[in-house]
Amino acid sequence: MYLYGASGHGKVAAEIAEASGYVIEAYIDENPMKEKVLSYPVLHEIPPHDIEILISIGNNRIRKRIVNQDYPFNYVTLTHPRAIISKRVKLGEGTIVMPGATINASVRIGKHCIINTNASVDHDCILDDFVHISPNAALGGNVQVGEGTHIGIGASVIQGITIGKWCTIGAGAIIINDVPDECTVVGNPGKVIKSKSLKI
Ligand SMILES: CC(C)(COP(=O)(O)OP(=O)(O)OC[C@H]1O[C@@H](n2cnc3c(N)ncnc32)[C@H](O)[C@@H]1OP(=O)(O)O)[C@@H](O)C(=O)NCCC(=O)NCCS
Repeated sequence: MYLYGASGHGKVAAEIAEASGYVIEAYIDENPMKEKVLSYPVLHEIPPHDIEILISIGNNRIRKRIVNQDYPFNYVTLTHPRAIISKRVKLGEGTIVMPGATINASVRIGKHCIINTNASVDHDCILDDFVHISPNAALGGNVQVGEGTHIGIGASVIQGITIGKWCTIGAGAIIINDVPDECTVVGNPGKVIKSKSLKI
């Protein structure tokens, strides 16, 4: 398989791929300065044939842009063997689940999401495509997270909350109210500091 994105996140993805038994052929990265990451070569062009791939880029919008380019990729889903994932969880293609993450019963996670180290996603949560749940973030039961939203490191979201699309939830925030689309929220309790629709 190949990893698209020779970044720090790409290093973590490589170790999860290794732990899952995949053979990594190379990274793909547009940066011509990158030649080797870990022990793997970095290609600067997309191979012309069908390949198995994971987009190992933390930026949610860039992952979506690459997917929209319709390359002949077969996206793999990577789950670290030390993640605890209920057998009743649905994971979309291209999603990666990192070590120590826990995903409980009846959760649905979309495509190309990142469930980062030690993140906790409780029962019945629904995460749309391109979501990133950062290390040590916790979602209570029945939380919904819209496309492209980033939940920051150590943030907590109480049960039943709906967070819109393309939001950023700051590191350590405590979310006790629903969050509209495209907002940045920080603090305890979480307050909107930036929003397109609210013109903040
Ligand atoms: C929320 C965040 C995106 C804001 O970044 P930004 O848009 O560049 O905003 P700024 O740094 O200009 O901060 C704006 C204000 O919010 C405050 N603020 C920023 N992040 C905050 C946070 N996490 N908690 C509390 N306050 C925060 C700043 O102190 C500043 O306050 P001020 O206006 O009173 O000075 C960023 O600070 C953050 O927390 N990102 C998450 C990073 C993360 O979890 N990474 C994990 C990678 S795996």
